[in-house]
Amino acid sequence: MTIGELTPQEQEAELNLEQLKQLVGLVEYDASRDPFPVTAMDAIVFCVGNATQTAQFYQLAFGMDLIAYAGPETGQRDRKSYVLKAGSARFVFEGGVASDSPLLDHHRRHGDGVVDLALEVPDVDKCIEHARAQGATILEEPNDVSDEHGTVRRAAIATYGETRHTLIDRSKYSGPYLPGFVARTTVVTRPEGHPKRLFQAIDHCVGNVELGRMDDWVSFYNRVMGFVNMAEFIGDDIATDYSALMSKVVSNGNHRVKFPLNEPAIAKKKSQIDEYLEFYGGPGCQHIALATNDILRTVDLLRANGVQFLNTPDSYYVDPALRERIGEVRVPIEELQRRGILVDRDEDGYLLQIFTAPIGDRPTVFYEFIERHGSLGFGKGNFKALFEAIEREQERRGNL
Ligand SMILES: [Fe+2]
Repeated sequence: MTIGELTPQEQEAELNLEQLKQLVGLVEYDASRDPFPVTAMDAIVFCVGNATQTAQFYQLAFGMDLIAYAGPETGQRDRKSYVLKAGSARFVFEGGVASDSPLLDHHRRHGDGVVDLALEVPDVDKCIEHARAQGATILEEPNDVSDEHGTVRRAAIATYGETRHTLIDRSKYSGPYLPGFVARTTVVTRPEGHPKRLFQAIDHCVGNVELGRMDDWVSFYNRVMGFVNMAEFIGDDIATDYSALMSKVVSNGNHRVKFPLNEPAIAKKKSQIDEYLEFYGGPGCQHIALATNDILRTVDLLRANGVQFLNTPDSYYVDPALRERIGEVRVPIEELQRRGILVDRDEDGYLLQIFTAPIGDRPTVFYEFIERHGSLGFGKGNFKALFEAIEREQERRGNL
């Protein structure tokens, strides 16, 4: 598959290139000069304490569809794995079954979190050859995995913390996910009028890394994976009294894969990034942003399903400087205020975004929902407002 075309996941989700330009800021680029061509996110794989219930939560609350499963019944003895999708976004939830499953040790150390930001690539061997030459840690050498649906070529490299990037070429595979998985369908009955999905695609996945290591990881993505730096840069000038961070964004050539990288900056008290690093037990994926073309409806449905969002202070919406900065957006500000949706604008356009509370027991992983209108940013102008909201929650947990 040539880059610039739709991925099979996008085709299946009936998305088109115009929609993807709007949704996730997809751009054309010349893959022939890329030493490590990446087509798209393949899946986000989570290690969780209870995959069976987690899979149910994402079906019930996030409106996702179950599509595949592997577990003891299918010959995977030590774990259960559930594969869910919404649009082109694919999540996999894994939990240990056998007491000696390495997943249980991982969960003990980190709690619920992302273990793998898997990437779809057209040439696994080319990527690994380049990554090795650049000094990357190869966790899994290129190998073929097959079943009656065909063959997947795969390999894996290490990134920050205990997170990995599995590289997958599934162009010769037609099964529901990977060899060993069987097709499953959602048993949830959706109410009449419920949209077929609440979000269409993964927009970006943010990594929190240790103090002083952000530039090393930016350089890792540049050197090893041929990722380019995106414009957004957040220095420690964006700080509240407590939370400060530095952030830079790297992306693959076509911008389907965007990885902002945060490190804590010195603040008066423990920053949100420090809190994450402490409770996750090191670097890891902080939040996943999901693209929607109707954030108002998405948020209304998620709230009705019990998903909790960070509160945005009313002062955010009446701030004359903010009103001036954001200008006209597609709905009255009051509609955004009622839902706590944030707005940011740059020279290319604007975006609407909202953040959930942490999704698990530990104050670590959370979600963002984002509706882009031309802007390719990440909500830099909202960091202060977001931080103040997060800090109110942090204070309630006694972690400030
Ligand atoms: Fe984000």
